[in-house]
Amino acid sequence: MGEIQSKSLSSVTVVGLGKIGLTLAAVFANNGYRVVGADINKDVVTSVNQGRSHINNEPGLDKLVLNAHKNKTLSATTVTTDAVRESNIIIVIVPVLVDKQNKIDYQFIDRAVEDIAKGLNKDSLIVFETTLPPGDTRSRFGKKIEEISGLNMGEDFYLAYSPERVYSNQIIRDLKNYPKVVSGVNKQSLDLAADFYSNSLQCELIKVSSLETAEFSKVAECVYRDVNIALANELAQFAEEKEVNISEVITASNSQPYSHIHSPGIGVGGHCIPIYPYFFINKGLTEGLTPLSRHVNDNMAPYAISKVEKRIGSLENKNVLILGLSYRENVKEPTKSSSLLLIDHLKEKEANVFVNDPLFTESEVIEYSVLPLSLDDRLVSEMDVVILQAFHDQYRNIDFSQFKNCKVVLDGRNKLNKDEIIELGMMYEGIGIGLEGGHDER
Ligand SMILES: NC(=O)c1ccc[n+]([C@@H]2O[C@H](COP(=O)([O-])OP(=O)(O)OC[C@H]3O[C@@H](n4cnc5c(N)ncnc54)[C@H](O)[C@@H]3O)[C@@H](O)[C@H]2O)c1
Repeated sequence: MGEIQSKSLSSVTVVGLGKIGLTLAAVFANNGYRVVGADINKDVVTSVNQGRSHINNEPGLDKLVLNAHKNKTLSATTVTTDAVRESNIIIVIVPVLVDKQNKIDYQFIDRAVEDIAKGLNKDSLIVFETTLPPGDTRSRFGKKIEEISGLNMGEDFYLAYSPERVYSNQIIRDLKNYPKVVSGVNKQSLDLAADFYSNSLQCELIKVSSLETAEFSKVAECVYRDVNIALANELAQFAEEKEVNISEVITASNSQPYSHIHSPGIGVGGHCIPIYPYFFINKGLTEGLTPLSRHVNDNMAPYAISKVEKRIGSLENKNVLILGLSYRENVKEPTKSSSLLLIDHLKEKEANVFVNDPLFTESEVIEYSVLPLSLDDRLVSEMDVVILQAFHDQYRNIDFSQFKNCKVVLDGRNKLNKDEIIELGMMYEGIGIGLEGGHDER
């Protein structure tokens, strides 16, 4: 194992060059490691080999990728097995998702693990960073790697798990500032992984006693946030009944140091919070707050739509514009976005659904079977309802006077200027703020 401990000789393969994987690869490659990124997407590999990042809105990433390219410390390939053959540290950051029925979908990572096992050298260290159901690093992937490679975990190769906890748009900063939770299948694996991260990221480490503890801690973080948001959404609905503004309530409540109520909204999206609770639910946590919170949060989109209907009646043939296909502001990520729930429910109501998102091309929007709408298009004046789903920077100064025919603005993130909208003669509705302005049309 001497060669892994010697930083100058270490060669790292990062498997999965997405938002997180490319950023990790670029950081390692600028901190003294020789890095090969492996990805099944040819376009991603081509761009990295030209010194270009394919990820938008990640401060500092373009520069790190270009710098590593110039220094010849970062390259990419579509052939994971070959990259692994040339490496002694392998970082796995390929997503595990859930399908439409919320069953765990391992197809991408299973393939990656097979490719890794085929090229694995004796004495290598493999670290899984992907969020996983507790037990998978050891029982699903470790065993599979043993089976294919003929090597034993903990003896012939070292196996660790270290969850990735960063936030898109600030990954480089978070990698340095957030403590890194690290675990290993045995002490040597843990020590090697800890050494690697303290050299490559220079961050604080939290060593935990088992792979399963580290896996559980990441899922628990996400469940906590989902349950907290569900509570905020429940309180928001009750606040509406009591004609109280939930935003004001939360600011006041959270001035007490033990109160951390999150923000209510039209739904929870992305490939973390709405997905990882199923890593517990599908493994036995079938009752209680975890599944209930999923239900509460997924119900916010139909709940918000029903409030619009209460004011303007049926949405049949009404033109409804959703601002933001992404699950949250300033990130190009449609996975489990609340806009998808909104689209489904609006289509059930037979509304004409338009979507604007400055981060997506028209053809990317059309994939969701909706009508893309540029804010320069004269059709904006024909919208009956405007729904804010993701508060991208481009919407900060949006001119609502262009929505000449709009009756209701549904502010799904409680971010818009309510007074300005009401002054324009439209009804304004937030989440937990109540309908104000304009006239009831029914
Ligand atoms: N994005 C976030 O904000 C975030 C935050 C914390 C943790 N995470 C964790 O990081 C994981 C990855 O997230 P991301 O945002 O980078 O995902 P992403 O969708 O941006 O990228 C995933 C990459 O993996 C590649 N890939 C798929 N199958 C592959 C295979 N068999 N071999 C090699 N490459 C393959 C894809 O082509 C893609 O480039 C998540 O699943 C999650 O566990 C993400």
